Amino acid sequence: MDKLLITGGRTLSGSLRVSGAKNSALKILAGTLLTDEAVSIGNVPHLHDVTTMIELLGCLGAEVVVDEKMRVEVAARELNSLKAPYELVKTMRASFVVLGPLLARFGRAEVSLPGGCAIGARPVDQHLKGLAALGADIEVEEGYVRASRQGRLTGADITFDLVTVGGTENILMAATLAEGITRIHNAAREPEIVDLANFLNAMGARVSGQGTDTIMVEGVERLHGCSFDVMPDRVEAGTYLIAAAATGGSVRLTDAAPGTLGAVLEKLEQSGASVERTETTLSLDMHGRRPRAVDIETDVYPGFPTDMQAQYLAMNAVAEGTSRVTETIFENRFMHVQEINRLGARIELQNASTAIVHGVERLKAAPVMATDLRASFSLVVAALVAEGTTLIDRIYHIDRGYETIEEKLSLLGADVQRVR
Ligand code: UD1
Repeated sequence: MDKLLITGGRTLSGSLRVSGAKNSALKILAGTLLTDEAVSIGNVPHLHDVTTMIELLGCLGAEVVVDEKMRVEVAARELNSLKAPYELVKTMRASFVVLGPLLARFGRAEVSLPGGCAIGARPVDQHLKGLAALGADIEVEEGYVRASRQGRLTGADITFDLVTVGGTENILMAATLAEGITRIHNAAREPEIVDLANFLNAMGARVSGQGTDTIMVEGVERLHGCSFDVMPDRVEAGTYLIAAAATGGSVRLTDAAPGTLGAVLEKLEQSGASVERTETTLSLDMHGRRPRAVDIETDVYPGFPTDMQAQYLAMNAVAEGTSRVTETIFENRFMHVQEINRLGARIELQNASTAIVHGVERLKAAPVMATDLRASFSLVVAALVAEGTTLIDRIYHIDRGYETIEEKLSLLGADVQRVR
């Protein structure tokens, strides 16, 4: 199993290109199932989760061609299966979003209940409630969701009980081919939803209101092929900004989408960073200073993203002062705390959703273990500032979501090596 060896103490500095957004690419790839024409997707990140989704599309019978620049062409003309098996869905929760497109186009689908990161219960009740409102018959049996519908789905008004990114995406995709109008109330407003809606519109869908909490979809009879480029990954961008800031360094990001990072940039400025942005670039400079402790509370977009909580917490661990980090989206997303404490941090879990971080002047290397995707990068941040060489085990979690991590970190001057 691959591990990362990181020798800390270097100040990161340099320039990086931001990859395409994982969380957008995965849903857009699932969306290609909505048409029988070829769809070409550019700026797809080369990640393990993307490979899993491509594998799933292939297993359903879609033809998938990937070129050397990670442009992915999918032609889901006729499928030979409408079943997303446990073996694939268990490794990646995002694959559950094939349910909406399959059901909408073929009137039937069987998708395993999901797995993914171990960060809480993460049920799919809202997805199922939404599909039922569109007229689907749903059964949950033997770990599978079986959904069916004679004829087209029918548009409906759907109000989610809570804001769900995946649920919004599943219903949004299903509604594109439904008969009549669907309104999704209390919809997620994440930029990845906007990207998905723009992609669906490029295929001929009629989606409006994306980016607000009410999305309207006028169903059409069929969708067609298109060419679409995935948006920049805001979580990757934010993660490298935090990593550079934690070391007192500087970084310039290109091909970024600064407009999607408002809450994170605001916090970084409070931590002492100077941040400059243009339409597509972001530059951060800590001027060699130690970060100041800053309170963080995660929230749905445009609030502070839960996917950057762990990384910010790691920076707060070496910041000047004490901070409070509150997680409001997932109920079990502090597994990184005890690992960061192994490096000498002083983080107390006040309760399941609040950590009190007493900033220490230095951390010291120790072997640690990655527990979930974003938490893994918090260990990288901690290792980058720790004295000595930290061994991070189980980095397959990182490879699910961060493209060429050791190359990108090396470009910024980090001492990092992958070992087997
Ligand atoms: C997506 C992102 C993930 C991010 C999360 C929140 C992808 C692949 N993953 O995950 O990186 O951390 O959004 O921004 O895009 N919930 C229910 N019932 C449901 C659905 C969700 O109770 O039917 C709960 C979940 O347990 C969780 C909360 O709602 O506590 C948010 O989940 P959701 O927004 O659906 O996250 P994902 O789409 O799984």
